[in-house]
Amino acid sequence: MDKKSIIILAAGQGTRMKSELPKVLHKISGKPMLYYSIKEALKLSDDITVVLYHQFEKVKKEMEKYFSNINFVIQDHQNFPGTGGAVMNIVPKYSKVLVLNGDMPLIQASELEKFDLDATIVMSVLELQSADGYGRVIIENGNVKKIVEQKDASIDELAITTANAGIYQFETKFLLENLPKLNNNNNQKEYYITDLVEMAIKEGKILKPIIVNEENFKGVNSKVELADAEVIHQNRIKKEFLKAGVIMRLPDTIYIEEEVQIEGETIIENGVSLLGTSKIINSHIKTNSVIENSLIENSDVGPMARIRPDSKIINTHIGNFVETKKAELRGVKAGHLSYLGDCFIDEGTNIGCGTITCNYDGVNKHQTIIGKNVFVGSDTQFVAPVIIQDDVLIGAGATVTGDIKKGALFVTRAKAKVLDGYFYKHFENKKKS
Ligand code: UD1
Ligand code: CA
Repeated sequence: MDKKSIIILAAGQGTRMKSELPKVLHKISGKPMLYYSIKEALKLSDDITVVLYHQFEKVKKEMEKYFSNINFVIQDHQNFPGTGGAVMNIVPKYSKVLVLNGDMPLIQASELEKFDLDATIVMSVLELQSADGYGRVIIENGNVKKIVEQKDASIDELAITTANAGIYQFETKFLLENLPKLNNNNNQKEYYITDLVEMAIKEGKILKPIIVNEENFKGVNSKVELADAEVIHQNRIKKEFLKAGVIMRLPDTIYIEEEVQIEGETIIENGVSLLGTSKIINSHIKTNSVIENSLIENSDVGPMARIRPDSKIINTHIGNFVETKKAELRGVKAGHLSYLGDCFIDEGTNIGCGTITCNYDGVNKHQTIIGKNVFVGSDTQFVAPVIIQDDVLIGAGATVTGDIKKGALFVTRAKAKVLDGYFYKHFENKKKS
């Protein structure tokens, strides 16, 4: 493949999204749409320019979290609005330049390689049931004649179902020579990159249309299309894991973000969300559990458990309604209804139902450390910071405010009082008054 430059258009506001957030920052599988265009572009080129305008600082800052080796330029949007205006004043390094839209999060490098043809312009065409929202490709005698935008189309043109997918490869020389010739004589008063197609044809240049599929080239302009694109993206993620041997119960109900890793003999039940950079190894994640930025290894979790960021759950059983956060559990059982935050709990320890690590004093967070083979009775509160050594027995209903030494029994209970027949006396008194 020839070396080529890539320009990604991401300056538009995205009014059809009806949102304050710039369109390309809306997320799919946990990452902004623009992230995917850049990620795929980097597989093909070392000269990538992203064109920004609306809220450019916000978009740039967000992308710099993930990428360091790309160029950002700001479009002269006031004087040259539109997709044509967006590519003006860029000097690509290589003799060919691929132009991508930042609102096409399903694009894959393998599909972009198909543009590697010898022509002045290689353009992408979608054959659709309805081309609503897209520019229409006007074909005469089997040849592309021009592209007409939806907002400029006649009723006859609107009926055309051959759409411009919006990705092009240009010979850099042609692009630089012809951009200054674009005008904004259209209903949107914008400079259209699509007008270059008609110009190339009139100059007798070679134009090669390639037919592409919507699975890869879907443009996202509205929240409906965002949701549709995410379904396609999710299916891709899940299919890869299924092929690698992960068992999924009702995969359509499972949500897995872009960076999640799953390894070994793992079962994911229905309704599970795996978020951020979570890694699941040889584990069973049961119905409706949520796992975020955490490691789960040789463990079972849920149903309905919430594993919050920076938890490490290893050789452990986590049951229903257990919430963890920054919790490292190694060889532990926490079967029911607990909050385990900012803690380290060691092998053989059993956490009784209703246990709470009180990690927050209203200002700072503190740690609870629990050693090996500790038996924590139900309804225990650990008021952190506390350290519980190995082999400790804690009676149900305890409030632990200090450290406990190895081998001890710890109980905090008021002496029980039983007053025979007091029930009747109590209500007798009430009646009199
Ligand atoms: C564009 C095409 C249309 C095609 C469709 C495919 C034009 C004129 N139309 O229409 O033929 O069917 O894509 O999805 O090109 N952008 C800028 N600067 C601007 C305007 C837009 O950078 O001034 C960026 C946007 O951020 C977006 C991309 O260009 O990433 C496409 O813009 P958008 O407004 O979505 O174009 P469409 O109307 O979808
Ligand atoms: Ca679009």
